[in-house]
Amino acid sequence: MSQSSLRLKPLTLRINGRSYGPVEVPDDMMLVDVLHEYLGLTGTRFGCGQGVCRACTVIVDDEQGPREVRSCVTGAHYFEGKAIRTVEGHAKHGADGALQELSAVQQAFLDHFSFQCGYCTPGFVNAATVLLERLGKQPARDYEREEVRALVLEALNPHLCRCTGYVRYYQAVEELALKLPNVRVRAAAETPR
Ligand code: FES
Ligand code: FES
Repeated sequence: MSQSSLRLKPLTLRINGRSYGPVEVPDDMMLVDVLHEYLGLTGTRFGCGQGVCRACTVIVDDEQGPREVRSCVTGAHYFEGKAIRTVEGHAKHGADGALQELSAVQQAFLDHFSFQCGYCTPGFVNAATVLLERLGKQPARDYEREEVRALVLEALNPHLCRCTGYVRYYQAVEELALKLPNVRVRAAAETPR
């Protein structure tokens, strides 16, 4: 947790489809700290605290569409009135809070044994979700397999994993991208890994 002032300011935002606030939080506090210390949402990871590792990535849903934001270097009040998603919002839960179903990304990461300690995983889940949602809204067309692979690399490459689990993260997301109905891969472009 970083240092912050004692000047309080009300904050209201939507997280994972639910309204939070107004809650009085320091006016210069970063979002990750507000999630942890004020809202009880501890799934977002604090890694470097300097905007480098992206463990703290959350999703912002605004007029630009879903996009990644690093919550360790973005003040909580930037999100006033905005809608965000954190890692807690991906799986489906029953009325009793019991887990019903993981998101497709979460399930793919499990199926591919993509993570080890899992500290980086919330950031990877959010990055992959943004990529797949944005890609899924593109007009249907033919892709080269390498093109899809490059899109996955571009989206996930900024995320650091100290357990070096990158390849299985990338494979899981590539598999999901190739299943999108608007992504058609030319058979001739199929290349073995
Ligand atoms: S903790 Fe935010 S980028 Fe590393
Ligand atoms: S799985 Fe350990 S840091 Fe990525």
